[in-house]
Amino acid sequence: MKRSATSMSQYHDVVKAPMTLTLTIDGKEIAAEPGSTLLEVAQANGIEIPTICFHEATTANALCRICVVEVEGMRLLQPACIVQATKDMKVQTRTERVDRARRTILEMLSSTMDLSDAPEILAMMDEYGANRERFPDAERREIPLKDDNPMYIRDYSKCLLCWRCVQVCAEDAQYTYAINFEGRGYETQIGTFFDRSIPETTCVLCGQCVGVCPTGALKPKREFLLEQGMSPQEISVLNTGRKRRKERPD
Ligand code: SF4
Ligand code: FES
Repeated sequence: MKRSATSMSQYHDVVKAPMTLTLTIDGKEIAAEPGSTLLEVAQANGIEIPTICFHEATTANALCRICVVEVEGMRLLQPACIVQATKDMKVQTRTERVDRARRTILEMLSSTMDLSDAPEILAMMDEYGANRERFPDAERREIPLKDDNPMYIRDYSKCLLCWRCVQVCAEDAQYTYAINFEGRGYETQIGTFFDRSIPETTCVLCGQCVGVCPTGALKPKREFLLEQGMSPQEISVLNTGRKRRKERPD
């Protein structure tokens, strides 16, 4: 059947019109596009939800659970970084239960790994009143630092297994697949195939893994050496075998 010009344009208007739904977050009625996550909707409306494993450049995987929120009618707390907003959903982002869950996650992290290079997580610990000594008998992840390439060091005692580095090394950015999870359970860590050194892998030293690491487990070699007390001159000699030329005055 042939459509009239008017009915065709009405048809296109319907197809193109952005569909919205409404939900309530912390008592505030909010319009959202279907398919948006609770985290996206909250962020777009100035409601803060903490994140650790989530990074806007990587596929959300809901590994850390720091972003959990309470959703009316749902028994379990829901990770806001992957759960989509639905019509008439009622969400609470700072109930006592939510805060307790976040606090416990932070306390478990701090009792098992070195967070000294993770200022954002340390700030969260203060905000949620996390007790750093809550699990004194927890076994700490103490893994020797890996310094096997000219670009970055790997200090997996500071790794919380957020998976961001693996994701940017794979389909989220570089398609290089130099690193992945290895081991099971408590022994899980990030590694290379057969524990090869970085130069023996497919790594192209793009540095994207370093850029997304939230804890300083991956760090530029230069930054690491400066922290160790080496001067820029000494680092230059180490890298090139040559001294840096003196800066010329303008
Ligand atoms: S090395 Fe960094 S980015 Fe990779 S999993 Fe560990 S904490 Fe996450
Ligand atoms: S930020 Fe959502 S689970 Fe980690």
